[in-house]
Amino acid sequence: MKKFLALLLALVMVFALAACGESTTEPSTAPTTEATTEPSAEASTEPSDNAEAADFTTVEEGKLIMSTNAAFPPYETTDDTGAVIGIDPEIAALIAEKLGLELVIDDVDFDSALLAVQQGKADMVMAGVTVNEDRLAVMDFTTSYATGVQVVIVPEDSDITDMDGLEGKLIGCQRGTTGYIYASDTPENGGYGEENVVAYDNGITAVEALKNGQVDAVIIDNGPAKEFVEANPGLKILETPWVEEEYAIGLSKADSADALNEAINNALQELIDDGTVQSILDKYITAE
Ligand code: ARG
Repeated sequence: MKKFLALLLALVMVFALAACGESTTEPSTAPTTEATTEPSAEASTEPSDNAEAADFTTVEEGKLIMSTNAAFPPYETTDDTGAVIGIDPEIAALIAEKLGLELVIDDVDFDSALLAVQQGKADMVMAGVTVNEDRLAVMDFTTSYATGVQVVIVPEDSDITDMDGLEGKLIGCQRGTTGYIYASDTPENGGYGEENVVAYDNGITAVEALKNGQVDAVIIDNGPAKEFVEANPGLKILETPWVEEEYAIGLSKADSADALNEAINNALQELIDDGTVQSILDKYITAE
């Protein structure tokens, strides 16, 4: 229950932030009727017709640097050529286009991806990042563009059938993620105790450890959980979803980033309003 409350609070804060971002948008030169453009193959967007372009500064001129951890399909993963693909890079590319910037993707560990924005090495972190209170203290966030649920993956023949069954078991998580934070919390706070949780570099290595019997379960977001289970016969997802979360783009809290943050948030909001974000989500996430 506590967690749910914390999340609710986080949500209220996100929406408050989004609302306040919206109220400050300049009435001047709205980038007219972008809402009707198709998400794909619209190469004609000129940086010059975007009045905001002149106002903001980015880490590197002309570039929009996005940090991520591409071991989190369908939000981000790498293809055979090593290129980062998925929901987040697709949305990011459209934001960059609207801003007249070249998208540069920096694929690092998840905790480093969060830090990159805080240290001024990236303009934004897009990595299926959950908005929570702790992160709101060190980062700004856009409006939310997707939701996630923490779920439990176990071997098909596991005796673990619900959240209570995890007590005293070894749980694998991705380092620095909300799944790790909840699971490693004390039992009084609804967690399983730090000594029962192993942090892996990413979701893929956590699932490998589960397959090798090094942990009894993996707690991770439902999106990647589904993909990992599909790709690894012998695993299943428990029917008991745990904590529900909102994903948003993480931004720098520095004053110097305000104008860029607003431009990113406005671009994302346009992509949400015209249905582009939903169509990208639908493309990658097949309905049950
Ligand atoms: N939603 C979780 C969090 O924000 C996990 C995100 C992990 N993302 C990734 N690209 N590895 O903590």
